Amino acid sequence: MSLGPEDWWREAVVYQVYPRSFQDTNGDGIGDLEGVIQRLDYLNDGTERSLGIDAIWLSPTFPSPMADFGYDVSDYCGVHADFGTMETMDRLIGECHRRGIRLLLDWVPNHTSEEHPWFIESRSSRHNPRRDWYIWRDAKPDGSLPNNWKSVFGGPAWTLDETTGQYYLHSFLKEQPDLNWRNPEVEAAMLETLRFWFGRGIDGFRIDVMGMIVKHPELADNPLNGDWMPGDRERSTQLWQNNRNYPEVYDAVKRIRAVFDEYPGRMGVGEVFGTAEEVGRYYGDDDGNGLHLAFNFQFIHEAEHGLTAWDAGALRRIVNAAEASLPAEAQPCFALGNHDRPRFISRHNADARGPERARAAVILLLGLRNTPFIYYGEEIGMEDVDIPEDRLQDPARIRTIGRDPERTPMQWDASPGRGFSPAEPWLPFGDTSPNVADQDRDPGSLLSLYRRAIWLRRNTAALLRGAYRELPAPADVFAWARVLPGEPSVAVAVNTGPTPREVDLPGGGTVILATDQALEGPLKSGKLTLPPLAAAMVQAPKY
Ligand code: NOJ
Repeated sequence: MSLGPEDWWREAVVYQVYPRSFQDTNGDGIGDLEGVIQRLDYLNDGTERSLGIDAIWLSPTFPSPMADFGYDVSDYCGVHADFGTMETMDRLIGECHRRGIRLLLDWVPNHTSEEHPWFIESRSSRHNPRRDWYIWRDAKPDGSLPNNWKSVFGGPAWTLDETTGQYYLHSFLKEQPDLNWRNPEVEAAMLETLRFWFGRGIDGFRIDVMGMIVKHPELADNPLNGDWMPGDRERSTQLWQNNRNYPEVYDAVKRIRAVFDEYPGRMGVGEVFGTAEEVGRYYGDDDGNGLHLAFNFQFIHEAEHGLTAWDAGALRRIVNAAEASLPAEAQPCFALGNHDRPRFISRHNADARGPERARAAVILLLGLRNTPFIYYGEEIGMEDVDIPEDRLQDPARIRTIGRDPERTPMQWDASPGRGFSPAEPWLPFGDTSPNVADQDRDPGSLLSLYRRAIWLRRNTAALLRGAYRELPAPADVFAWARVLPGEPSVAVAVNTGPTPREVDLPGGGTVILATDQALEGPLKSGKLTLPPLAAAMVQAPKY
């Protein structure tokens, strides 16, 4: 495949900024767009002293009553005053582009805020022209809810609106009514919001709950989940058959892609859930008519369900399934963290060795054939912060404590305001360590490992474009090669077990990056010895 400039996202590393928590510049304890501008050099100043990322995904920055911290949008074409103005956003776009950084916003097509003018109109009367822009239903004749669908955040997905006596559907909070994508006017209006931002220079979008926008035409009940056990807060009591990955959603994806294609070089990455096959379908057919990328959350979900802590067999199975389920030329996008899930170390720290696994995760993420996304703070190993009851913010308590622990302010230094804000921050800080300033000076830090991995990838053709091929490996080790004709190959190996392991690499090679720098250098024989929980990349003419 020959790549053009519009394919930048295939070789990119993307950094997710949760804007409330990145950098406050106006002293209100909430991060803002000016703060992102001030920290751009940290992200990429063109030298290996910076992280070296290629693109930023900004979680929602639109006007919003903040019931779900911006995932309840009241104006898709504006900027929330907490974050700045349209002028600040334009400046951010310009400053990013000046440094060669692409900027992605977060498009929320499944639902608006209840304060969006469309919903205010829609709920005002059964005859309002925008009534059908949302999903309204009568109660069943026996007075029960229109169907059995649950909100992702718990409880029924229906709320009665007293004004008109009908229920509206909300797949998330009741403050987030679902749009009716079966109404062509809704689709047209939402697609216009993409054009609005593309016209201002935005390079693409992360697309929120992509897989739920089109539902069963009759809103048929979901079947019950026979595997659900009382007390299981993660899995639902029902299978999301009629409101998630419903077959017609894939047609809507194609129409969305067509708008991206009106603006060369724009990229869409979908938040989708399901099996590897369901995720693969979001990429469209072979001719690139689906999303450019779709997140694969298996690494996170399996760990959360206790199915896999950090296990070579599971990593291999997930990667092989993803590789087998994508159309030719499509590229996976494995997520290791985001604003909805406990931080990596906190998920993998039962034996207090999470920090070691975080180092191996850098090599996994940057070594796989995929577009890596890094959630802010993961590069310094931030962990979930205990939030006192009276400081909890997340209204969606999908786990007992909600998602606040993984959303705390970026720790830039060890000062009382952590370099984030002189004011009381919207969520409490973690301990003074980890922080960027300390790790910046330490060549053995996690931050230094991230920087080296990202710049190495940038300068190594096989890591950018090489095919994936699994390599034979002993128990507890997942090993693969990245192979590109005419270029040196790279073998990557991750030991997830408690004992040292030897990986045969006939033909030898040179360790170019490892969790422990002492492992780097030429292999003494055709074997790579990996200490417990270690990982390494090895380069040789051919694997
Ligand atoms: C997924 C987003 O990542 C999450 O933060 C949000 O609450 C839901 N979608 C609803 O928009």
